[in-house]
Amino acid sequence: MIELDNLTKVFDTPKGAVVAADHISMKVPNGEICILLGPSGCGKTTTLKMINRIVKPTSGKVFINGEDTTGMNTQDLRRNIGYVIQQIGLFPNMTIEENITLVPQLLGWDKARYRERARELMAMISMEPNAFLKRFPSELSGGQQQRIGVARALAADPPVMLMDEPFGAIDPINRAVIQDEFLKMQQELKKTIMFVSHDIDEAIKMGDRVAIFREGKLVQHSSPDDLLAAPKNAFVESFLGEDRALKRLNLVKVQEVVSDKIATVKPGDTLETALARIEDYGYQNAILMVNDQRQPVGLITRTKARTTKGYCRDHFENVPATVTLKDNLRKVASLMFSQDATWLPCVDDQGRVCGQITQRAMTHHLGSRFRAREAAPRNPDSAIKE
Ligand SMILES: Nc1ncnc2c1ncn2[C@@H]1O[C@H](COP(=O)(O)OP(=O)(O)OP(=O)(O)O)[C@@H](O)[C@H]1O
Ligand SMILES: [Mg+2]
Repeated sequence: MIELDNLTKVFDTPKGAVVAADHISMKVPNGEICILLGPSGCGKTTTLKMINRIVKPTSGKVFINGEDTTGMNTQDLRRNIGYVIQQIGLFPNMTIEENITLVPQLLGWDKARYRERARELMAMISMEPNAFLKRFPSELSGGQQQRIGVARALAADPPVMLMDEPFGAIDPINRAVIQDEFLKMQQELKKTIMFVSHDIDEAIKMGDRVAIFREGKLVQHSSPDDLLAAPKNAFVESFLGEDRALKRLNLVKVQEVVSDKIATVKPGDTLETALARIEDYGYQNAILMVNDQRQPVGLITRTKARTTKGYCRDHFENVPATVTLKDNLRKVASLMFSQDATWLPCVDDQGRVCGQITQRAMTHHLGSRFRAREAAPRNPDSAIKE
């Protein structure tokens, strides 16, 4: 656990005192990622640097796993904390391999072990070891250097990681890949991480909790879902953006919204049967046709069933799309919009139909948190004074 207790930094500058961090108190439980988010200059980097004492706190304390770090030897402290700095900061006169294995070497790992570790980490950051390990940082792109910065911080497997905009210089496609890889790794390694980001979508995706900073102060510290559903004040609300309800789509999985009630027909059923089931069912304009394994194989429209005689197997259309229980609602909404669909069938791991998801169920689910908030009296103190 990382615990900050009234951590404060005041820089003395020729123009007077700058309060970069103002009585920051927060906890990051073991195995969680906490994202520090806020506008430029709000004190995110300063807060991070006080944890590994690159910046000396003016007052306040940092505890790691319950131990006050104030009296600890700075070198010991830093060796146990992986650090990805905002400006990447690879050593230019060392190869990529030397950069990555610096801390393991300082810790006395044998050569075979640290070289193997470097290859393992390169795989994690999707870079070919043979192509890159012997190069120098200047021979890499900015985004590639940034990935090496992440690998270097992970090298000695520290339990605590501080990451300052670690993926900021990487293009959106590679960034998403690396974020996913990082989250997969985190599920196994369960490191305790403070992670600075500018990017709200990244914060929501990567964070177990998100801490919003403004002018050196911690304004709100919540789970991404609570943050989006209940921003504490007007500043947080405007920082999250007007589409914050849509951002919540990323956080909700189909399994939370799926209905297991779904009418189906078999290829051997008549269109009359199909029409009767559509009518029974009420509001949908089509019914799903499944095979003997309950896998979706077609769609019978209400119009076809009403105007034609015969068997379903001779009159079906293609299923526009299916979704799985693990998909998030953002993907579902995107499919619905592109297919002009108000519902989609949901399939399990074997591709068998296990329910359906409707636009109505999605809007209801998303709206319920917001409505709960509207119903609660709003704390007048929470409106920020500009
Ligand atoms: N060494 C320093 N001396 C004086 N002022 C400093 C120093 N370092 C940071 N500051 C000031 O402290 C404030 C917070 O800076 P910090 O680097 O923590 O911001 P940040 O939130 O990380 O911003 P960014 O998103 O741009 O990286 C800023 O006003 C900055 O100018
Ligand atoms: Mg910064």
